[in-house]
Amino acid sequence: MKKIIILISGNGSNLQAIIDSCKSGNIDGEIVSVISNKENAYGIQRAMKAGITTKIISDDSFNSREEFDKALFSSLMEIEADLIVLAGFMKILSKKTADHFYGKIINIHPSLLPKHKGLNTHEKAINSGDKYGGCTVHHVNDRMDDGEIIAQQKVIITSDDTADTLKQKVLELEHKLYPKVIRGLLS
Ligand code: GRF
Repeated sequence: MKKIIILISGNGSNLQAIIDSCKSGNIDGEIVSVISNKENAYGIQRAMKAGITTKIISDDSFNSREEFDKALFSSLMEIEADLIVLAGFMKILSKKTADHFYGKIINIHPSLLPKHKGLNTHEKAINSGDKYGGCTVHHVNDRMDDGEIIAQQKVIITSDDTADTLKQKVLELEHKLYPKVIRGLLS
């Protein structure tokens, strides 16, 4: 069985979609660990409910960014995972981590990259008058929302869309696209 690690910082709705896909056999893999840099991330509850091992590597427990990076790197090294999935993990990886695992770490971003990196992607898309919003799955390097693109899915932005409605539409796409890409990469 292929081993998957998932890194989160928040709600974990993408995590949930991946949990469900593993359970249904759609993804031929097992989530062996969910790691969060936020103690109160709701995704941790989701993982625990699914009986998955969780680990908190909290930003607040380290004196420096370097120490956090070291702790994360060694946690990732402990498990020889086939795939490391960032699902709403709100931190840029250190160069050492990104280089070591390049090709094995993926991220999902709620825009049609290379457009609208960073936060508030839906506002940015609407304010730029874009016809389409969407999401991108890409390999992860040590730069924000960068790395080779693996897959994209787009959705029409209608005149009555707000950042919130667009976010919901895009999240629905994410929940289909991310499991599909993971399934493909592991098979
Ligand atoms: C998603 O929109 C994802 O694209 C972005 O962060 C959000 C995470 O949502 N990277 P969730 O925690 O999976 O619900």
